[in-house]
Amino acid sequence: MTTTTNTQVAVVMGSKSDWDVMSAVHETLQQFGVPHVCRVLSAHRTPDALSAFIQSCEASGVEVFIAGAGLAAALPGVVAAQTTRPVLGVPLSGGALNGVDALYAIVQMPPGVPVGALAIGKPGATNAALLAVAILANNHPEYREKLAAYRETQAKKIVETSLPCDT
Ligand code: RP5
Repeated sequence: MTTTTNTQVAVVMGSKSDWDVMSAVHETLQQFGVPHVCRVLSAHRTPDALSAFIQSCEASGVEVFIAGAGLAAALPGVVAAQTTRPVLGVPLSGGALNGVDALYAIVQMPPGVPVGALAIGKPGATNAALLAVAILANNHPEYREKLAAYRETQAKKIVETSLPCDT
């Protein structure tokens, strides 16, 4: 997948092994009809390719970046260092510390270069996409309507939930 002039969100992850969780970003953005691109690029293993990708995203007008990574999880911070557009970080579990390492790495950015840190794993991946849609809605009002409809559907499901004890 490459960026085009209408790509609005760029999604990067440090490894193909992150896709199981980061696919939730893709699916949620797809649900809202957000043009996006997903790439595997690593802060540590492919720093030059990552920089080239960020530059191409900037040139093509990408409005929000979402970066997911596990372990030392430098990726969201490294992306944020190279763009002034909003960067949302998704900490991924894996390894001895179950994602707490990635959470700390992403949430503890020093002042000056922020990353919006989400929850560990799939809930964070889904919310990163929803937050990206909310950011896009500032310039693209059609997304605000879609977000309102999404919340209504969600609320309806909860209200209509029946439990085995209901008669
Ligand atoms: C991180 O290291 C990746 O984001 C991934 O979560 C973790 C392990 O990567 P692999 O060894 O599975 O490629 O950079």
